[in-house]
Amino acid sequence: MKITVIGTGYVGLVSGVCFAELGNEVVCVDKIKAKIDSLNRGEVPIYEPGIEELIEKNTKEGRLSFSDNLTEPVENSEIIIIAVGTPPLPNGEADLQYVDQVARDIALAMNGYKIVMTKSTVPVGTNERIKGIISELTAHPFDVVSVPEFLREGSAIKDTLNPDRIIIGSDSPKAQEQITRLHQPLTDNIIITDIRSAEMIKYASNAFLATKISFINEIANICEKVGADVTKVAVGMGYDKRIGSSFLQAGIGYGGSCFPKDTGALIQIAGNVNYEFKLLKAVVDVNTDQRFNVIAKLKESLGDLKDRTIGIWGLAFKPNTDDIRDAPAIDIVEALVAAGARIRVYDPIAMPNFKRVVQHASIEWCDEPYEVATGCDAVCLLTEWDEFKNVDLIQAEALMKQPILIDGRNVFSKEQIEKTNFSYYSVGRPSMTRHYREPVNN
Ligand code: UDX
Repeated sequence: MKITVIGTGYVGLVSGVCFAELGNEVVCVDKIKAKIDSLNRGEVPIYEPGIEELIEKNTKEGRLSFSDNLTEPVENSEIIIIAVGTPPLPNGEADLQYVDQVARDIALAMNGYKIVMTKSTVPVGTNERIKGIISELTAHPFDVVSVPEFLREGSAIKDTLNPDRIIIGSDSPKAQEQITRLHQPLTDNIIITDIRSAEMIKYASNAFLATKISFINEIANICEKVGADVTKVAVGMGYDKRIGSSFLQAGIGYGGSCFPKDTGALIQIAGNVNYEFKLLKAVVDVNTDQRFNVIAKLKESLGDLKDRTIGIWGLAFKPNTDDIRDAPAIDIVEALVAAGARIRVYDPIAMPNFKRVVQHASIEWCDEPYEVATGCDAVCLLTEWDEFKNVDLIQAEALMKQPILIDGRNVFSKEQIEKTNFSYYSVGRPSMTRHYREPVNN
């Protein structure tokens, strides 16, 4: 099939590359010319394992190309995918200006029947709004289909090529049939719904996953007080098929481009129809508080943080991505700056992005985890990169002023810590503390 994908962000680029890999002819369009120029040079604007190789292969084999103008690609395509951003407005609501503009541009470029497939995460009712915008500007026939995207950053290609399910929200049997055919090579698990339900499935799924994370984080906080171990509790809960074992990892809370944005948007969607989504509001509050548990643990172990030197291992909101959008590390580093601490940080790939958002004279940017540890009163692990899991703790400890480790992701085992002199604080597991505290030394 001939496909145009509009928007070369995470969703657009990954979808375009994967549809090309399945044998379709795909043009990825973005209005930012510099982005298209660099893609044409083989430079990929996002960090995603496996994507570069697939782009190279599919462009070479003539199935994938890039353009900064949608007119010709739309004319030549049967299916047009909208994958532009829907960033949050100050009140949490999704900003639909890019979606609306693309709908207008598609309408003006149409030259016959088209299927407009929305992959951007959009509030319930948006596909009908797209339909309205297009039909005002063209007499050509078209259908609008909602196919929400569930890919995760860091495993986006794998998730797209092996989805748990494909949701197709459509009111047109003709479009349903075509879009089903497009996705058939990926899975048999194709679920057809009405358009509004498809839109809601995306928000409800992300809200539920966020709820699981905040739930286990609160259980973790209680475990700390009653002397239980949340990792064991999660394993025990996870064997119940009704609960499932995934998304029960306690830590410093969720970040990223989806959960914070989509939970906020769903609260707003509910609010717009006079429904207060109390549970989801609590999920968001718990997530915000959870980040600051790291600061509380630092204070518990060091007292006042003024002039203390604190190391940070990991800035990205999760491993295998350079994305720092809504990363817990932003709030944590800013709280440390405000408390007057000196901060030494390192992340394998997210440091350039982080520097663009947080800059302060008290932050020292390091090249590797041991350099971070040097002279520190405490080190906090915020992202569970393999590089940190493989740190030689005895070597790190020897470089520190005093051995205090705050493990925000429960990466290290009791046995690993017992071989060291670390005072060790993790999330929802018993702390392993040694009580001597070095004085502040300027
Ligand atoms: C998420 C959804 O998983 C995906 O389906 C949707 O399309 C986009 O949003 P993503 O944001 O890429 O994907 O990352 P994900 O792996 O889901 O992790 C989100 C956040 O939750 C991370 O900050 C992660 O550290 C945190 N998390 C995840 C936990 O704290 N505990 C868990 O058990 C799982």
